[in-house]
Amino acid sequence: MDILDIIDKKEKEERLTKEELKFVIDGYLNGSIKDYQMSALLTEIDLLGLSEEETIDLTDIMLKSGEVLDLGFENATDKHSTGGVGDKTTIVLAPLVASLGVKVAKMSGRGLGHTGGTIDKLESIKGFQTSMSLEDFKAQVNKINIALVGQMGNLVPADKKIYALRDVTGTVDSIPLIASSIMSKKLASGASNIVIDLKVGRGALVDNLKEAKELANLMVKIGKKNNKNTACILTNMDEPLGYAVGNSLEVIEAINTLKGNGPKDLTNVVIILGTQMVSMGLNIPQEEALEKVKENLYNNKGYQKMLEWIKAQGGDITNIPVAKHSKIIFSPQDGYISEINALEIGKLSRKLGAGRLTKDDKIDLTVGLVLNHKVGDYVKKGENLLTVFYNEKEVSETEVLSCYKFSENLVEKPKLIIDIIK
Ligand code: URA
Repeated sequence: MDILDIIDKKEKEERLTKEELKFVIDGYLNGSIKDYQMSALLTEIDLLGLSEEETIDLTDIMLKSGEVLDLGFENATDKHSTGGVGDKTTIVLAPLVASLGVKVAKMSGRGLGHTGGTIDKLESIKGFQTSMSLEDFKAQVNKINIALVGQMGNLVPADKKIYALRDVTGTVDSIPLIASSIMSKKLASGASNIVIDLKVGRGALVDNLKEAKELANLMVKIGKKNNKNTACILTNMDEPLGYAVGNSLEVIEAINTLKGNGPKDLTNVVIILGTQMVSMGLNIPQEEALEKVKENLYNNKGYQKMLEWIKAQGGDITNIPVAKHSKIIFSPQDGYISEINALEIGKLSRKLGAGRLTKDDKIDLTVGLVLNHKVGDYVKKGENLLTVFYNEKEVSETEVLSCYKFSENLVEKPKLIIDIIK
């Protein structure tokens, strides 16, 4: 077998066999296939796609390139977000469903680019430990139903290497490559049930509905093929989720949401995703799961579980730090807010220091932006639009206002839950 023949075959849009795909992945990992050869193949795949069978084969090969966790308990339920701006859903959802008896053994990532990461957010809590041994991880889930840490073990090394190359060769946005990358990692994490929050919109990995549905269908098929219950919820990411953007600011909003005082959009996403997780995790009908989720969101049990979880990982949620300075940005006119560009708000948050441009950048966990209004709200000139929390780095009023559009006419609130595919 020869990598040039394989690239040539793909160029002719012929199906690659599982053996050929394995030859490519093994060869790239052991260095016999070079970056430039892999990059040529990834570009072909980005342009021409992969068939469903090829994608399922590729996922299986990537999955088996490293360790596959055996969590040791049945029915563990995982949740994944494809990443958005202000997306603190996991911090609310994980303790909420754990309070209902669902086992959540979760690994999360750090932020990169304009999107944040759950691990960075949790590290803004004083003392919170984001790493532990596999034994301690399992023991904590057994005891309190929840543990959440950064990546551990040598899971899917093929994805680490290929993703880094995709990042610098403009091949991140290929649907089959995204599906195999996400699903290989989810399958390696050992959960039986997988719920994916697929963000769609300006601040998301996928910005159009057609591609989002294609990706969702593909991930659900891969999950089922591997005997995992899999559901994909398509949610809107044109504007930030909730009001807070920035690590510690988002943790504060997540805590308030678990106390039943969360923003409407975040609360709705939590309820919809929670219903899927509880239905799968406890093997009960959706309607029953929905009732249970709502109950524990408003009776303080989800919040109590969060306190237990944070304490178990060494954290203390009293006095979550917030940046030293703040300034309010006022509305320049009367009108309905018709746009708050999630991508641009995410970039401003990064500019303040809350996010990274490269993997090794140090970040400021206390800075960010807190919206005072959402799309569809009516504001008067001079009203508070948003507060910037900053330390050393600042953003200007002009930069903030360029994220906004206004309309004289009534603007409908965007539809948040776009579709559920399972
Ligand atoms: N997130 C992943 O884990 N992989 C991708 O390819 C894209 C987003």
